[in-house]
Parts: sequence; structure tokens; C-alpha cells
Amino acid sequence: MSRQSAEGNAAGAGTGSGADTTWDAGLYDRSFGFVSAFATDMVDLLAPEPGERIVDLGCGTGKLTAAIAARGAEVIGIDGDAAMVQRARALHPHLTFQHADGRDFAIEGHADAVFSNAALHWMKEDPPGVIACVARALRPGGRFVAEMGAYRNVRIITDALYQALAEEGVPAEAVDFPWYFPRTSHYVGLLEDGGFDVTQLRYFARPTPLDDCPNGLADWIDMFGGNFTDAAPPGRVPTVIERTIELTRDRLCPDGRWVTDYTRLRFVAVKVSEG
Ligand code: BEZ
Repeated sequence: MSRQSAEGNAAGAGTGSGADTTWDAGLYDRSFGFVSAFATDMVDLLAPEPGERIVDLGCGTGKLTAAIAARGAEVIGIDGDAAMVQRARALHPHLTFQHADGRDFAIEGHADAVFSNAALHWMKEDPPGVIACVARALRPGGRFVAEMGAYRNVRIITDALYQALAEEGVPAEAVDFPWYFPRTSHYVGLLEDGGFDVTQLRYFARPTPLDDCPNGLADWIDMFGGNFTDAAPPGRVPTVIERTIELTRDRLCPDGRWVTDYTRLRFVAVKVSEG
């Protein structure tokens, strides 16, 4: 199973739970490089200034950490997966990385900004706890700039996986749904309750091609869908994957190119000054 082979996680997948799930970082970088490639405009939204202190929460292999540092900011990359942190350190020896849980990380002093790309949806155990931890790390007036999978993210894929499993006699309850894809209104409420003013917010569909996956959706499921395939009866994983592909092909691969149904929640939130 790709997600459990040796080297690292997927864009900070372990950050929220503290569980050391490990991922095949080589396969991840080869086939899912779009995660950071899509996010260069997120660094523009962050607008790091020289000398600013910035936390990259769920930093994965550190690509965006390095992009932020290249703009002159002092960056700390944080990830919940020890192997990922190890790889980030090897790739970017001049940068600082920390292995820590998204609910429980701490830095010396305060940061001017906390940045997060494609990682918060993996921190499903305690989203208010993650927000509280981000708030503790920030100075008053500091900004939280993030993008995450949103409501209905990859719904066509997960509906098909549930149906394929049901056809094998596996109920939905047997799957430990691995992600947190909140409704916009819900997440805004959490941010406000956590001491933030939301100054920018966008919910949008971002169809995401799998051009670097030789086996299309099968590679995506192999990388990310382990909680679904783990629920399949012994020996039935290939059937579940084949059926999922059959169920989704018309909508996600109408002309031979797999394009996944990603939706995004992107926001800037400012920590309210006390007093
Ligand atoms: C996402 O970035 O939205 C995502 C990535 C992997 C699995 C599920 C969602």
C-alpha cells in the first residue's frame, strides 16, 4: 500500500492526528506534484515579507516552505509525519523543520503568519484544536492563510468507492472516512470562535487532472484511498478499484484524461488583537 511505504506523507497528512502514517514520498512527488504546483498563488496570497516569521503547517516535503523562504521570510516547516520531516530536512538542509502535531505544535515567540496548503483536511480529529494552536502561535494581528479540501471534495470518487464496497457487502460504517471537508459556514464559525476575523474567503471547484498518474484514478486510490480499500473483503480490492473506475469514468474521464473533482476552501483570517 503506497501510503504505508517508507518515506514520507502526503502534504502533511499526519499533522493533525499525531499518528505516524507514512507515505511513499517518491511516488507522491512523481505523481502528485500538482499539490504544491497548484499552490504557487497561495504563496502570493500569503505575501511573505523579508524578515517575517512564518509557520508552514503540514509542510510535506517542504516545497512551499522553500518557496516562502525564497521571498526572504524566516520559515519553520511543521509536519506530523516523522519520515516526511526527515525528507524535508534532507531536501532543504538550510531550512528549519519540526515534527509536531497540528493541535499541539509550539514555536519560540510568535509568528507573523501561519500558512497551510492541502493539509488541514487531514487533521480531522480536532479542527477547533488545530485552530486554537494556530492562534497561540500567532502574534495579535498575525494572519492564517490556508487552502484545504472543502465541502463535497472528491465526492464523485468517494460515492463510487462506497457503492463499490456496498456491492461487496461492506457497509459505509466500515470505512473510517479519512478527511475533514467542512462546509464553508461551519469552518468560518470555527475560525471566529477561535479568535479570528475572516478577511478573505473563497469556495471553489478546482478540477484536478491526474496527468502524472500512469494508471489514472487507480493511482489516486492507491495513494489516498487506503481507508476505503482496507475495508474491502479479502482479495476483493482489485474488484473494488475496477468498479470505482467504471462508476466514475463517464464523469471524471470522459475523453481519456482523468480529472478529479476537487473543491477548495481558501481563506485569510487575522488573529483578533486582545483588549
Ligand atoms: C485534497 O487535496 O483535496 C485531497 C488530497 C488527497 C485526498 C483527498 C483530498
